[in-house]
Amino acid sequence: MILKNFWYVAELSSAINHTPKHITLLGQDFVLYRNTQNQVVALNNLCPHRGGALSGGWVEGNCIRCPYHGWKYQSDGVCIEIPANPPNAGIPKLAHVDSYPTQEKYGWVWVFLGDLPESERPPFPPLPEFGGNGWKAVYGEFKWNAPYTRVVENSIDIAHPPFVHSDTFGNQFNPQRDHYELDLDEWGGSIAAVIKPPPQRGIWKFILRHKNRPDILTKTTLYMPNITRLDVDFGAFKFILFNAHVPIDAKTTVTKWIQLRTFLTHPLFDRDARKRPLKTFLQDQQVVESQRPELLPATLSVHTDTLPMAYRKLLQKCLDKGWGIRQHLIQSDSPSVQRVVIPSPVRRQAPEMAKAWERREGGQEGGGEAEGAGEMGEM
Ligand code: FES
Ligand SMILES: [Fe+2]
Repeated sequence: MILKNFWYVAELSSAINHTPKHITLLGQDFVLYRNTQNQVVALNNLCPHRGGALSGGWVEGNCIRCPYHGWKYQSDGVCIEIPANPPNAGIPKLAHVDSYPTQEKYGWVWVFLGDLPESERPPFPPLPEFGGNGWKAVYGEFKWNAPYTRVVENSIDIAHPPFVHSDTFGNQFNPQRDHYELDLDEWGGSIAAVIKPPPQRGIWKFILRHKNRPDILTKTTLYMPNITRLDVDFGAFKFILFNAHVPIDAKTTVTKWIQLRTFLTHPLFDRDARKRPLKTFLQDQQVVESQRPELLPATLSVHTDTLPMAYRKLLQKCLDKGWGIRQHLIQSDSPSVQRVVIPSPVRRQAPEMAKAWERREGGQEGGGEAEGAGEMGEM
């Protein structure tokens, strides 16, 4: 259920510099670095010569050099130097690493993992409040031993807080969800609901005398395939939690999150602001990591599952378009024999790259299954 042809959050912008950085996304290894114009370059991490890890090499201007035999690759993935060759020996056309489009937004580096040209790519998830007047941002991340689809479903599930978060914002005395507005489109959807907050506890019960707290307006939004956003409107104050649930591999997810708030914006309150999502995720983790089967099955659903059900349909639509990445090849019994490479946009323009890595062990040349990714045989 891992999909190509979307923008994925790779890392905080501040964590990428002129030293190569190894990143694992979608079960694949990538190397990221900044070129001389400070733009972020994202390449497949495996050198096509003997499969050396480029992240162990070093950056020279706009290029990266493999640490094994020193082949030098430009930021577009083209090899421009093979040190062991005599001058004018020429460079094989397949000495070309997949290079992926990047952009920096909301303090993160995003990598487009797929081969669609720019005009055909899904829309970029918006966050217009970021950097806006009066909004304060804090960042964090949380690791789950669960597939990202289960984590996303949890994030857009409006019926679980009274049970899973009953000691914080969930109201166990009011679990019914009968008034909400659903809005769906081609790349996601949202569900707006009024929440009755739980009664005040502890000292707050005496400070804020009134027993009935005002209703809170919430909106939960999904952007395919792995971004969710929670808006909480307290009237005078607003709060947003923007989550990128990044598939590290088929069974591991890291949620990279930005929390935006319009209240208590002094940095003194940042530590407390970071604690809240962490506490919520720890409660969700108990449930999400014990769900079986791990992948999303067709199960019983009720009206509050409308957005999760829409999510499943959208996932299926992407699979029908051939955007699925064959995880069984990445996670085969002998991963060193077969590797999958997510195709980059160049494969649509350069004929020699179209089938690069479609090789079988024993020297058989590709053809093979074209779905999702090219394969790299043992080299
Ligand atoms: S493995 Fe990279 S240059 Fe040989
Ligand atoms: Fe939750």
